[in-house]
Amino acid sequence: MNKTSTKGSHTMKTKGAILRGAPGKFETAEIELEKPRTGELLIRMAAAGLCHSDDHMATGDIPAGSYPLCGGHEGAGIVEEIGPSTLGWEVGDHVVFSFVPACGHCHWCAIGKQNLCDLGANMLAGTRFEDTTSYRMSIGDEPVGQMCGLSTFSEYTTVSVNSAVRVDKSLPLDKLSLLGCGVGTGWGSAVNAGQVGPSDTVIVMGVGGIGTSAVQGAAHAGARDVIAVDPVAFKRETALKLGATHAVASIDEANELARTLTNGAGADVAIVTVGVTTGQHIGQAIGAIRKAGIVVATGAGPATVSDVPINLLEFTMSEKKLVGALYGQSSPMAMIPRLADLYSTGHLKLDEMITQTYTLDQIAQGFEDMHAGSIIRGVVLFD
Ligand SMILES: NC(=O)c1ccc[n+]([C@@H]2O[C@H](COP(=O)([O-])OP(=O)(O)OC[C@H]3O[C@@H](n4cnc5c(N)ncnc54)[C@H](O)[C@@H]3O)[C@@H](O)[C@H]2O)c1
Ligand SMILES: [Zn+2]
Ligand SMILES: [Zn+2]
Repeated sequence: MNKTSTKGSHTMKTKGAILRGAPGKFETAEIELEKPRTGELLIRMAAAGLCHSDDHMATGDIPAGSYPLCGGHEGAGIVEEIGPSTLGWEVGDHVVFSFVPACGHCHWCAIGKQNLCDLGANMLAGTRFEDTTSYRMSIGDEPVGQMCGLSTFSEYTTVSVNSAVRVDKSLPLDKLSLLGCGVGTGWGSAVNAGQVGPSDTVIVMGVGGIGTSAVQGAAHAGARDVIAVDPVAFKRETALKLGATHAVASIDEANELARTLTNGAGADVAIVTVGVTTGQHIGQAIGAIRKAGIVVATGAGPATVSDVPINLLEFTMSEKKLVGALYGQSSPMAMIPRLADLYSTGHLKLDEMITQTYTLDQIAQGFEDMHAGSIIRGVVLFD
C-alpha cells in the first residue's frame, strides 16, 4: 500500500491508545492528528466503550489494514471543529459514532440497509473509507491507522460525517457511547436478525456487552423465555437483571432447558455472541433450535475459521436458518437515535451494563478485566 503522510500545518496533538502490531497490547502514545477536511468533523471524545472486537485487533484474530493502529470503534463526543463546506453541523453538537459508515446514497443505504454501506469495504483499512492512501493520524513520518475510521481511544479524533450520528444533548454521552457498536449490535441481533417475537424461546450464547444487549432486545420484543448462556457466574447474574428469564453455564444445559420449555421442539432463536466465536459454537446453536428456527451469528472469531460442524441433512430437512448479522442488521443513522430514546424513557438499560470506567492510561487493565470476565462493558472516560 502506498502510504502518504498526513503531515501539514493543519494538525494538532492528541493522546491515543495504539497497537504497534498484532498480537500486541494497547499502549498510549502522542499522535499528530490532522484537522477536518470537507465532510469531516473534529471530535473531542467524551467516552469510549471497550468491545471484544478491539481485542480481536490486538490478538490478530481480525487483521487490521495497517499498523500502528489507534484503536476503539465505540464512543461518543462533542463536535469541536467542522471541515470546510461541511453543512448541517454545529460546534458543540453531541455525537455517537457508528462503527459502520453510512454514506446515505449507495445501493445498500438507499434500500435501508446502511449497515452494509459500500464504504464498509475499507472499514479496517485504517484510512479514509474512499481513499486507502489517506490517513488523518501519524507519529513522526509514519501514518497511524484509525480503527473503523474512528479511533475512539483518542482524546481527539477526526472522522467522516458518515460515521457520526447527532444525539440529544440532554442525554449522558458516557452511557450513549455504547449505542454505536455493542448495544445496537446486540439489540438488532435479536429484533432484526433473529426476528424475535411474542412468546418466543430465545437462547443468547455469551452474555457480555453484545449478549446482554441481545437479551434486552429479545425481552423487549416479547420473548417468553430468554435463556442466557455464559460460563462466568457474574455474567449470568447480570443477564438475569437485564431481562433473561433463565441463565445457565453451557449450551448443552440451554438446549435441554429450551426443549423442556417448548415440549421438546427447541428454541425459536439462538443468538451467538461469544467473545471468540468458533464454528463449534455456531454448530451447537444450530443443534439447539427448532424446525425453521433461526441462528444469528454475531460473534467474531479468527478470520481464518471456515468450518461449521453441522449435520447437513438435518439442517436441510428441518429448514433451519443461519444468518450473519453486522451491527444487528440495523441502519445506524436510524437505530442510534431510537436506542437513545428507549434509554431516555427507561426501556433500555445502559447504566447497568457499564461495570467499570477507566482513564485512557488504564486501557490495558480494561482489556485484562474483559479477559477475566469481571466486566460487562468497560468504558474509558476522557477528562
Ligand atoms: N457482528 C457485529 O456487528 C459485531 C459487533 C460487535 C462485536 N462483535 C463480536 O461479538 C462478540 C462479543 O463481543 P462482546 O464485546 O460482547 O464480548 P465480551 O467479551 O464482552 O462477551 C463475550 C462473552 O462470551 C462468553 N463466553 C465465552 N465462551 C463461551 C461459551 N463457550 N459459551 C457461552 N459464552 C461464552 C464470555 O464469558 C463473555 O461473557 C465478539 O466476537 C465481537 O467481536 C460483532
Ligand atoms: Zn464493537
Ligand atoms: Zn452507503
